[in-house]
Amino acid sequence: MEIIREVKAMKAYVRSIRNKGETICLVPTMGYLHEGHLDLMRMGATMADHLVISIFVNPTQFGPNEDLDKYPRDMERDEKLAASVGVECIFFPDASQMYPDGYATYVNVERITQSLCGASRPNHFRGVATVVAKLFNIVEPDFAIFGQKDYQQLAVIRRMVNDLNMNVKVVAHHTVREKDGLAMSSRNKYLSPDQRRNALVLHKALLYAFSLVGSGEKSSAKIREEVMDMIANTPECVIDYVEIVDPDTLEPVESIYADVVMALAVKVGSTRLIDNMTLEV
Ligand code: PAF
Repeated sequence: MEIIREVKAMKAYVRSIRNKGETICLVPTMGYLHEGHLDLMRMGATMADHLVISIFVNPTQFGPNEDLDKYPRDMERDEKLAASVGVECIFFPDASQMYPDGYATYVNVERITQSLCGASRPNHFRGVATVVAKLFNIVEPDFAIFGQKDYQQLAVIRRMVNDLNMNVKVVAHHTVREKDGLAMSSRNKYLSPDQRRNALVLHKALLYAFSLVGSGEKSSAKIREEVMDMIANTPECVIDYVEIVDPDTLEPVESIYADVVMALAVKVGSTRLIDNMTLEV
């Protein structure tokens, strides 16, 4: 497995693959890989001739009071895990490779970045769209895989790829969960054993909303109220948002007559967790 740290070297690697007419699948990550990432990579290995991942803790998607500095990192472990699922190359740039002195260009996807996570993390999706556009330009993948746990991120990237006519097929991978239902996330590492138990309320709340819609409840307000009560009554849990939205536009839906997405962000202690589920009518 190759580890490439420089943009120039990465472009040369890509060129050698392209010259042979072979395909590339990219799985962009911020490292500290878990089983969820590995599942995306296993899928990627079946989709193209070459599986490339990126590991880059992207500073432009973190707000001033967020966890950029303490974001977990363990490259040695990540290398072993990536090799075990057939990754052929890790693109592992540092910030000066991605944002050299004088850097001034950002990708701003409008509207769908304003609600949900965008409301409390104002420049987050600008940072995500920018770094993903750069990764697409550097790696030139035929396919790129993103987890559905970051539902809004996936919608933003799809919008950008479509709007900017990018030559990459964006593939969604279902949310990978621990046995007890907690969505896998590198940030779960921050949770104490008690918080880890309390965090199960996110998945339980989504399942409860799913069952309400399944039994005919049409009112988003009613479902949100019950879900918010459930979360607010769990120790150490503070709601950032609980929303029921259209799967494509992410606009709030008031009455449920077609499939919708329930999206949640909850602070458990000081760790902000997100999760979502499609509620099928
Ligand atoms: O989901 C992530 O890990 C990041 O937001 C991504 C897509 C790698 C961009 O930095």
